[in-house]
Amino acid sequence: MGSPTKSPSPAPSIPSTAPRVPIPPNGVDYRGKIVLAPMVRSGELPSRLLALKYGADLVWGPETIDKSLIGCNRHINPRNSMVEFSRIPSNGGRQIEAAKESIIYRLDPQREKGRLIFQIGTASPDLAVQAGKMIAGDVAGIDVNAGCPKPFSTSGGMGAALLQTPDRLVSILTALVKEVGTPFQIGISVKIRILDEPERTRDLVTRLCATGITGLTVHCRTTPMRPRERAIRDQLPMIASICKNAGVAILANGDVESRDHGHALMKEYGVDGAMIATCAEANSSCFRSAEQGGLLPWRDVVRDYMEFCLECENKWGNTKYLLNQLIPGKEKVFQSAKQSKSYWTCCKALGFEDLLERARIVDEVIGRPSIEELEEGQQQGVNKKSKKNKSPAVQKAMLTETAKAAGTNGSSSAANGSRTGKDRGVGSKTGNNSPALDEMPNPPDAAAVSMDMAAAAPVASPLHG
Ligand SMILES: Cc1cc2nc3c(=O)[nH]c(=O)nc-3n(C[C@H](O)[C@H](O)[C@H](O)COP(=O)(O)O)c2cc1C
Repeated sequence: MGSPTKSPSPAPSIPSTAPRVPIPPNGVDYRGKIVLAPMVRSGELPSRLLALKYGADLVWGPETIDKSLIGCNRHINPRNSMVEFSRIPSNGGRQIEAAKESIIYRLDPQREKGRLIFQIGTASPDLAVQAGKMIAGDVAGIDVNAGCPKPFSTSGGMGAALLQTPDRLVSILTALVKEVGTPFQIGISVKIRILDEPERTRDLVTRLCATGITGLTVHCRTTPMRPRERAIRDQLPMIASICKNAGVAILANGDVESRDHGHALMKEYGVDGAMIATCAEANSSCFRSAEQGGLLPWRDVVRDYMEFCLECENKWGNTKYLLNQLIPGKEKVFQSAKQSKSYWTCCKALGFEDLLERARIVDEVIGRPSIEELEEGQQQGVNKKSKKNKSPAVQKAMLTETAKAAGTNGSSSAANGSRTGKDRGVGSKTGNNSPALDEMPNPPDAAAVSMDMAAAAPVASPLHG
């Protein structure tokens, strides 16, 4: 039940006169919050809306690399009003068959308003600022990932590599605070792992807290630790004490199982809030307290998730990946969902008859094969993306979208970095979505989205072998 491996020192007492880094008007205070962790693949927009529905106080988007966002166009999807950042995928110099923009980040300007934190993967103050300016008008905060242990992140100097180059991490945070946080009036924060020696963690946290950040999350594992190893919480009281004395909100992450568990940890370790990853990935109704009924049955969660996916026009590959996490492997319907080739076939398999018509339209919009094509394909042994012409209704909807997107002329105000914190009106919100790794045009490339995959990798995915 997420108990620490070592017994903790008691939570230190914090003087009531402790300072507080002011929370900017467009930012959000992490104090008292139980939040959804940043998760590549598992933290796309439908998953975040699901977590919010079940009571997550704040949601982190999946880590998005600075270079991946820079060069994106920002537009509003006219069918669902979501904000989408998209770009032509970089393809390692290879000819791209049809230069179709791919959505890098998608967000809901209404339901995520004031509750979405954009997490950036970066190793450069300049690139971080450039990317930060593009998204700042649409989010309540920007968080720097200083914990991803994967080579594709650390080899670029990003993620956990930043724990070994504190000067660079400090310069990134300082630049973001000054050039993005202040003009846009949002908070800047950082997510770290603990270091082996508590003294080194103490020195690092002390330096980070002096950069002007409003929040710090500590994943209570060291960089080499595997996700299945229990989180170590014995450094937490010390980290909490430093943050509190500097007026920086502190969130604890690592083996937090539910809202109630998060609150218990806050009491026990003196932290301001807690962040949940794996347990939310499996069933985000963990954000409901026991008083609210606690965990919901998987079927209710899948139903809610499917509705959000249809509403967001989520990429089918990503939806299928998450369904694989949400539906217990022993359930009969697991195999049918796993073999589904479209929203329609999946809704049919799950018995969501009332969603079939919406599923058919979304399949058409995102280019999934229709039921006729699938039947045809079955006979011919093919399973390709739909080549069929879109129906007049869908064509009309898509033309409207093109026209509206054209209004941004490929250089939206967000994209040219000209918006300020004052411009955060309706329709000025961004969309959030880093591409899932299996959907990324060129994952090892600079435009790739990295993740703290040490946490994800060993969670074997039946859908992905
Ligand atoms: C599927 C998956 C994707 C993740 N992606 C990110 C990420 O984009 N950025 C990040 O800082 N951490 C990422 N992590 C790490 C989590 O945010 C979290 O720190 C870690 O899983 C520990 O929390 P837990 O014990 O609740 O799982 C990811 C974890 C998982 C399981």
